Amino acid sequence: MGQLEKFLTDNLNELHEKNLYFELKELQGAAANRVTIGGKSYVQMSSNNYLGLATDPEMIKAAKEALDKYGAGTAAVRTITGTMDLHTELENHIAKFKHTEAALVLQSGYTANVGVVTGLMNKNDLIISDELNHASIIDGIRLTGASKYIYKHKDMEDLERGLKEAQEKGYGKILVVTDGVFSMDGDIAPLPNIVELKDKYGVMMMVDDAHSSGVLGKAGRGTVDHFNLNGKVEIQIGTLSKAIGVLGGYVAGSKDLRNWLINRCRPFLFSSSHPLSITAAALKAFQILEQQPERIEKLWSNARYFKKGLQDLGFDTGFSETPITPVIAGSPEKAKLLGKKLFENGVFATPIVFPTVPMDKCRVRTIVMATHTKEDLDLSLEAFKKVGKELGLI
Ligand SMILES: Cc1ncc(COP(=O)(O)O)c(C=O)c1O
Repeated sequence: MGQLEKFLTDNLNELHEKNLYFELKELQGAAANRVTIGGKSYVQMSSNNYLGLATDPEMIKAAKEALDKYGAGTAAVRTITGTMDLHTELENHIAKFKHTEAALVLQSGYTANVGVVTGLMNKNDLIISDELNHASIIDGIRLTGASKYIYKHKDMEDLERGLKEAQEKGYGKILVVTDGVFSMDGDIAPLPNIVELKDKYGVMMMVDDAHSSGVLGKAGRGTVDHFNLNGKVEIQIGTLSKAIGVLGGYVAGSKDLRNWLINRCRPFLFSSSHPLSITAAALKAFQILEQQPERIEKLWSNARYFKKGLQDLGFDTGFSETPITPVIAGSPEKAKLLGKKLFENGVFATPIVFPTVPMDKCRVRTIVMATHTKEDLDLSLEAFKKVGKELGLI
């Protein structure tokens, strides 16, 4: 057996034995509130299409029009010939929306986090990061070679300990970084306290608003706006791939931050720009956010209804405060079984296991959408009730 074959066989077997192997489920059609898998219809409870924008006719129309005008691809990185007028229009629009001087769009939220952290920090610096921050922040930190201090989840005493220790060590720059909404638990970072501490110690701060863009704050401006902290956080990351309904990531901040990243953010410099169909649909999404506040209201009323339903049934839903509601099952085996049995009962809710979450907190993560009907949510709750009893979770 060759080296590669041996490596893959051994390691894949181990993943299967430990119940940590991810299966891909193929959807025949769009990521709507109901999806078709293997010819059967399921209630979709795992999508990031919070506001239904991924399947919205106005968004599709905008994308089609841009496709006709600009073609299928841009055929270059932004710094060579891959910047079109619509890219700049979207960036100006995002900057205005986020109350920042400027914004820069990247290929995904993942590349935005990796690109910004690596573009700004180096081995003489320190990065102070919440232990539950997203993998893209962790990967960015690893690539910088900077020192790191990982503080306990949302623990402000531990964060201050890290800041105090840093004072004595003579680092170059110091960056405090947190998710705005934590992706696996749906809880919100205590931004006012973090801002207070980073000001007290005179360091920089970055918030990843992937799961709060389009969800929290006025017209979905994110957690910084939600806490009335506009102008107080130097670096805001957002994604265009979740509630915004398309694909991409962005960084919002000062003009100089944008100018620096154009020159030193490696995913920006070395990977091609978005096709304009994506850019046009994202622009349309930001217009819809302003024009149709009822979408976000519906998202939140659906989220409250579904979360209460799960809690009334007796499920452990952790500390969720947003439309992300985890249903914690325990071991990987139990989480997988929960997902499998829900699927057999017409609900598509993906199990999330280690290393994405701790080994003993494996779960099915549900995300409610504004486009879920009451019938969708009731059908899901019925399935959770039946399966939860079978598995002894309630
Ligand atoms: C907190 C957080 N940040 C960043 C990302 C990456 O976003 P994208 O899917 O646009 O790459 C995700 C997506 O899973 C996320 O949950």
